[in-house]
Amino acid sequence: MAGVRDSSSTKFAQFKLVLLGESAVGKSSLVLRFVKDQFDDYRESTIGAAFLTQTIALDDSTTVKFEIWDTAGQERYKSLAPMYYRNANCAVVVYDITQAASLDKAKSWVKELQRQANENIIIALAGNKLDLEAKRQVDKSVAEAYAQECGLLFFETSAKSGENVTELFTAIAKALPLETASTRQRATPKGVDITRPSRRAPAASGGGCTC
Ligand code: GTP
Ligand code: MG
Repeated sequence: MAGVRDSSSTKFAQFKLVLLGESAVGKSSLVLRFVKDQFDDYRESTIGAAFLTQTIALDDSTTVKFEIWDTAGQERYKSLAPMYYRNANCAVVVYDITQAASLDKAKSWVKELQRQANENIIIALAGNKLDLEAKRQVDKSVAEAYAQECGLLFFETSAKSGENVTELFTAIAKALPLETASTRQRATPKGVDITRPSRRAPAASGGGCTC
């Protein structure tokens, strides 16, 4: 983690990120790994949503701060989700590689985001619990093909081992429009967007996308 440099050449940008996905796929665990480099085998299910921040250095002169909304996956909280993904610059939609149904749920979140969120939102699909390879139900190639078709970033991750967690968030930061933040900008109050994404990964297929 890097702090914001007090230099006029430093590029600083902050982005609102939302995590969505079925309950128990590991959203909070991914955030805990990313923000505190910790893992907890017995995590309580999230109530409502949790807010955390993390700042990463992309290179010597570029700093990205994520304002992270970790939503609750339980069905009873579903109606709250638009409050958190509205105005989000980026989203991580999480499924559990050992639960095939959780990928279906992830796909429905992707659909909802693509219809109702910021039209330039960067979406990453994360297949979590990669450490449980022996219990895998979702082929990597199947999920990857879906992600490519829908223009999503894609990673398989393990909040438990830490595999690909930093890579996931770094890839999102790199996909965001840092060029709009070339003038140094200070953190603004929570929830205020200071920059909007201007590009997203194009869908690989011409019109055949089922997203
Ligand atoms: P909700 O808050 O209910 O939406 O769930 P969540 O998606 O935030 O899941 P959470 O992070 O609470 O994790 C659920 C359970 O899965 C916990 O017991 C975690 O310890 C476990 N878990 C999360 N990530 C991993 C992982 O990468 N590997 C393994 N083996 N277990 C994980
Ligand atoms: Mg949670």
